[in-house]
Amino acid sequence: MNPWIHLLQPYPFEKLSTLFKGTTPAEKKAILWSIGEPKHEAPAFVREIINREIGALGSYPLTAGSVELREAIRDWLLARFQLSPDSIDRDRHIVPVNGTREALFAFCHFIVDPRRDNARVLMPNPFYQIYEGAALLAGATPWYMNLRRSDMLPDLDAIPEEILRDCQLIYICSPGNPAGAVMGAAELQKLINLSDRFNFVIASDECYSEIYPDESAPPCGLLQAASQMGRHDYRNCVIFQSLSKRSSLPGMRSGFVAGDEEIIKKFKLYRTYHGCAMSPPFQKVSSQSWRDEDHVKENRSLYRQKFESVCRILSGVLDLKQPDGTFYLWAQTPFADTDFARMLYAEQNLTVLPGSFLSRKLNGVDPGRDRVRMALVAPLSECVEGAERLKEFLEKRRSESNVP
Ligand SMILES: Cc1ncc(COP(=O)(O)O)c(C=O)c1O
Repeated sequence: MNPWIHLLQPYPFEKLSTLFKGTTPAEKKAILWSIGEPKHEAPAFVREIINREIGALGSYPLTAGSVELREAIRDWLLARFQLSPDSIDRDRHIVPVNGTREALFAFCHFIVDPRRDNARVLMPNPFYQIYEGAALLAGATPWYMNLRRSDMLPDLDAIPEEILRDCQLIYICSPGNPAGAVMGAAELQKLINLSDRFNFVIASDECYSEIYPDESAPPCGLLQAASQMGRHDYRNCVIFQSLSKRSSLPGMRSGFVAGDEEIIKKFKLYRTYHGCAMSPPFQKVSSQSWRDEDHVKENRSLYRQKFESVCRILSGVLDLKQPDGTFYLWAQTPFADTDFARMLYAEQNLTVLPGSFLSRKLNGVDPGRDRVRMALVAPLSECVEGAERLKEFLEKRRSESNVP
């Protein structure tokens, strides 16, 4: 058995079930703000393509993915991140994967050399839990970059030089889950310069890059930042993209990995052995989903309406900031996040995720403590209802403690 398996923590949703054990929720319709599972309707072409292509289930797909899919991804990458046309080749720079979760995990095992002393994998704190599990099971030691309170981004200047020397892989997540902050080009370029100096690989999880509030200001991506530096070979830079959030298709399991040609070439070989190729009808749906922007704009517009309504209802009762990206609110709680989540569930049947279930305490500081993550994935009316319930819950607390 993998000797590091005992280091894995229960997944946050398992911690949540344990927290709620023995608590009876109020007799109201359950509202789930805990899980980041998009609920918007899938684009209409999805059903039509699946019906049409169902016969393709009779053939084994290739690990490399169809030419049609890789061309759709290449065209999307070039347009979305304003990359130099010759810098992305459909055969050399792109691997389709079955959602980014499996790829983010596998990538760490592919990159990390556990025989090297003090193998380190760096990640933000709080973070998407797969990064930590992947690092531990690869025999590396995670090093957590606490998010700065000022902008909710990892502080790259605070990473000690000896940690950078041992770093083999760094995960970044922008827009970030759970805090929703976006790393700008300058920050990404600072990281690229560090990777040059210390020779580590950057895995940039960009699965929320298409969920942002301002149509005129899409978040910058790692390849875009590299390209702006004139680095059209994307050395040591790899991005992870997904249709789960962009197209509200989490059940389809479709994403891709792209970047540094040398890394992609060997990762493709690695995946030939460990990975599963994407089902052919889903490759067809994915091609169309990367080519169509209308449904993505519609998605953003729905999220915008929900953020506006929920933040309006909660203004003055909860410390909130609308995020630069993602569909999460990362709210400060007036008392312990776990008590907050449990009492809210009991009194209002509204489920939120305690921030400390997504973070690790370091040197006495837990950046997830007294925060909750609230995913605005349900329809607008349900989000409004959730916000009203949360307001009532907070007002009750306020009156109990006689806070004016
Ligand atoms: C930060 C982050 N990365 C990756 C994923 C995985 O997404 P998928 O496997 O659906 O592409 C998620 C899912 O919630 C996520 O929040």
